[in-house]
Amino acid sequence: MCAATVPGIRLEFRSSLFVALWICTAVFAFDFAIKLWLRFSSQQGLDYLLSPQGLIDALAVVPIPIAFLLGVPAETAWLLASLWILKLTANVPGLSLLWRVIALESRALASVFVIFAIVLLLAAVALHVLERANQPEKFGSLPLSLWWAVTTLTTTGYGDAVPKTFLGRLIAGGVMICGLGLFGLWAGILATGFSAEYRRRDFARTWDLVTRVPFFRNLDPAAIVELARMLRRLDVAEKTVVIRRGRPGDCMYFMASGEVEVRIESGPVRLGPGSFFGEMALLEGGPRTATVVTTIPSTLLILDVSDFHAFAAHHPDLAQAVEAEARRRRIGPANGKAGPPDQAAAH
Ligand code: CMP
Repeated sequence: MCAATVPGIRLEFRSSLFVALWICTAVFAFDFAIKLWLRFSSQQGLDYLLSPQGLIDALAVVPIPIAFLLGVPAETAWLLASLWILKLTANVPGLSLLWRVIALESRALASVFVIFAIVLLLAAVALHVLERANQPEKFGSLPLSLWWAVTTLTTTGYGDAVPKTFLGRLIAGGVMICGLGLFGLWAGILATGFSAEYRRRDFARTWDLVTRVPFFRNLDPAAIVELARMLRRLDVAEKTVVIRRGRPGDCMYFMASGEVEVRIESGPVRLGPGSFFGEMALLEGGPRTATVVTTIPSTLLILDVSDFHAFAAHHPDLAQAVEAEARRRRIGPANGKAGPPDQAAAH
């Protein structure tokens, strides 16, 4: 589409471009027809057509032939192919997150927008009054002054309209500084919104994983909430060293899924979902006693040392179960596969 707008392009190349564009249109039309047929056969045709995806699919196909039927020149009609780019939105998962953040933060964003509008209008009126006599072509009307205010407040500053009076320049400086502040505020609101949304999503996912770990199954909901806030999820590929022997330990791990191999002198011990490891260094304050490596892709929940002690203080039964398991590991050469810790011991 871009190449078709270049005037110097050779004629035969131009016709192959148009053929390629028609092929693309045909593919999208075929895709649209199949989707329509499938949705209408399951009584959801209208819902699909009125959904954002349905509208985007329709926009990719319908306007181009209509433009040709109305006699629009090919070069202009094919500019409607730019609507195809909207199809990419279906494959951007972050967009739904962006919309949610904008929706959640709409009040804060709107307040900044109102301040933006206030500064914009007041600055435009002031510059119109101060500069219209000297530069009627730049500040002669309020819309002209508003153009200057927008380019200045957004700190774009094309330089096509510049105040000449001292007061005008003073106001321009203030507007530029306001612009920086307002955009900083907008960015701050969006960044906080994103981080809060990520925390909410993470919390929901961690909650789900925590309830799947048998060790926590008998915890009351309030304790699970407390724990889900403390735990961090870590997805690890196979053959990844999670703990290295001799290193200081600052956290312990609960296994939501997968398998790890604990490399101790008496031979490797395998731990599966529901088990925990990395507790010894926290309990004894010493270095890691063994190297722990994943054997398959695994999902771990990390509990930092400070959270471990805080949680242990509130839930001594759980802390005792962890200590008992650590004692058992320290004493006996583990034989074969070690399963999840004894539930009775935990509660
Ligand atoms: P830590 O010493 O912090 O780091 C290595 C971890 O391997 C250790 O805590 C235990 O969680 C785990 N570990 C050590 N020995 C054994 C064992 N015999 N059986 C199962 N796990 C062990």
